[in-house]
Amino acid sequence: MKTYSVKELLSEGKTQQDVVVKGWVRTFRSNRFIALNDGSTINNIQCVIDFENTDEEVLKKITTSAAIEVKGTLVASQGSGQAVEIQAQTITILGASNPEEYPIQPKKHSLEFLRANAHLRVRTNTFSAVMRVRSALSFAVHKFFQEDGFYYVNTPIITGSDAEGAGEMFRVSALDAKNPPLTEEGNIDYAEDFFGKETNLTVSGQLEAETYAMGLGKVYTFGPTFRAENSNTTRHLAEFWMIEPEVAFMDLDGNMDLAERFIKSVLGYVKEHCADDLAFLEQRLLNEEKTKPQNERSPMPLREKIDFILDNNFKRVSYTEAIEILRNSKPNKKKKFDYIIEDWGADLQSEHERYLVEKHFECPVILFDYPAKIKAFYMRLNDDGKTVRAMDILFPGIGEIVGGAQREERYEVLVDKMKTMGIDEEELYWYLDLRKFGTAVHSGFGLGFERLVLFATGMTNIRDVIPFPRTPKNAEF
Ligand code: 4AD
Ligand code: MG
Repeated sequence: MKTYSVKELLSEGKTQQDVVVKGWVRTFRSNRFIALNDGSTINNIQCVIDFENTDEEVLKKITTSAAIEVKGTLVASQGSGQAVEIQAQTITILGASNPEEYPIQPKKHSLEFLRANAHLRVRTNTFSAVMRVRSALSFAVHKFFQEDGFYYVNTPIITGSDAEGAGEMFRVSALDAKNPPLTEEGNIDYAEDFFGKETNLTVSGQLEAETYAMGLGKVYTFGPTFRAENSNTTRHLAEFWMIEPEVAFMDLDGNMDLAERFIKSVLGYVKEHCADDLAFLEQRLLNEEKTKPQNERSPMPLREKIDFILDNNFKRVSYTEAIEILRNSKPNKKKKFDYIIEDWGADLQSEHERYLVEKHFECPVILFDYPAKIKAFYMRLNDDGKTVRAMDILFPGIGEIVGGAQREERYEVLVDKMKTMGIDEEELYWYLDLRKFGTAVHSGFGLGFERLVLFATGMTNIRDVIPFPRTPKNAEF
């Protein structure tokens, strides 16, 4: 007898065949109907047992989350809930699960409760659906770039540089923390450390990706990045995955086109390949909405939101235009923004970004040409001398999903910029070399993978779209 996944049993015409399936019990009712799930799909297979001919000891162990093997015949179902079911002949308990101790019961648990059980939460419908969508999105990322002539590069996790210049780094050290070697001045002597210098976990693979773009032409990274920013929000993780394409001979307009095409492609992929999971997640959201007051309900169901992105052009707006719009707007009749932008040059807060996307333009927005002062050192200076060729993509319900730029390719201008921003030129000699030896216009961006998964699944807390979230004061598991 052949072993099948639940997905195979439900999707292929195998009725009247003898089959084997292994999975975890979701529910067991009337001593007769087992809903079995093996993670291959959101749907369970119903296994009907002949309890009179089933061993008493086995029956007792068919409890939620027990691992079992079912052998039987796949038949058209008599019941209305499913097309096929297994008439079970033999049930083998592979791993019992004591129902008194198993924390996740077949009822609705809060997401907070499930977060505290991150090692078991993937056995729920919600988390298994989210993680399958996450997996499909990862594949879609590689598919898009590989089919578009990009090469995948693996940039280092441990680096000596701070790509964003924001100082939000986790130090990597092999020194004895309690008794580190000291310099004559009494500071920790990093020359004695493993790498002979200060090192940290990467905040972005961009600078290294740039070196590869200047040889391979079109490259992308897709890996973990780390930020020691103390932001306890539903949009920030200390460890998150970032996708960073970098392309030689491409300017900012090309960068915007690429980002838009890329996002539409990966969302289109999940729409096509995760239909069951998206339908489930959409229903979950609709149920959630019903518990909210009428005026807080989101008008657009999940799959329509995805379609909306696929069918509409992203609105391209300069920082200066955006500031003008914000100065002349109120988020609603009664309230002003918490933070009023007085001067040109101030950074936008998330309330402004959300206003632009959700209220003013009502579509994804690409903001570009930001003030140089609020952006990283590597962005190309415009002729006005005060703005840079930066772009952020803002998404409904998410805020910033992409940050990118055309890079400063002119040696002198870059050196000047590094001087004024206090970036160590010696440390980044290799980055400056790119501008000495065959420099060229080039651009790229970084997309926060978890923010994309948030959008695609309709989840609202970033801790719920990565298997084991890392946030301030939380590194369990
Ligand atoms: O805007 P950021 O900081 O840009 C960079 O790191 C550039 N070096 C990227 C590049 O041009 N290659 O980060 C890029 C994106 C953000 O738009 C956001 O989606 C995500 O990364 N991001 C985070 N996601 C989760 N948790 C955090 N703490 C994040 N910080 C940034
Ligand atoms: Mg950013």
